[in-house]
Amino acid sequence: MVLFLDSSDPKEIKEIYAWGVISGVTTNPLIISKEAGNVDLEKRIREVCEVSRGHVSVELTTETEREMLAESLKYYEWNKERICVKVPFSEVGLRILHQLVERGVPTNVTCMMSFNQAYLAALAGATYISIFSGRIRDMGYDVRPIIQDTRAILDREGLASKIIVGSVRHLMDVNEALQDGAHILTVPPPILRKMLWNPRTESTIREFNDAWKNRGS
Ligand code: E4P
Repeated sequence: MVLFLDSSDPKEIKEIYAWGVISGVTTNPLIISKEAGNVDLEKRIREVCEVSRGHVSVELTTETEREMLAESLKYYEWNKERICVKVPFSEVGLRILHQLVERGVPTNVTCMMSFNQAYLAALAGATYISIFSGRIRDMGYDVRPIIQDTRAILDREGLASKIIVGSVRHLMDVNEALQDGAHILTVPPPILRKMLWNPRTESTIREFNDAWKNRGS
């Protein structure tokens, strides 16, 4: 199991990478707009690359095949070692994916809500296939069998794609996705910070340190 950070904030990314537990970064247009408004995307992504290691997923924002291919190649040129092109799942998305796979560009197929979509993206050779836990649950569906079935078919058919579970809203999403066979979880910083915290740990450390300070008194 591997953890990625779902953020585009270089300061936050730098801080959390120092914990030694993160292996990649995912961004999307919503995250970047919320965190940085009308920022220069190339500048922002270059800053993210500087403070991280591993793949940095950058999502396409155009919608025609011609534009999407040009946008993909532009992002890839920014840093061929680090950029992973995030392709929203659709018919045209699959055509773009196929062309990127043939050119050896790392890909993350995103916004997937079903096993069927994830299977198609894996068959087309995506590096990563992103299943959106929180948004699936928002619709009233159970995400767990989708993750389990996807992992089972990847293993059975020897498909190389790695499952990323995103749209993580609660600690239980993390724990369950771990059990269900996700290869990677992409976690927003506030959820990751919650993984640190336990009141009993804090009170125990306080008790130990207070005893040390007051020893011999
Ligand atoms: C994953 O790669 C996405 O960036 C993200 O997890 C989407 O989550 P949301 O449902 O919170 O927008």
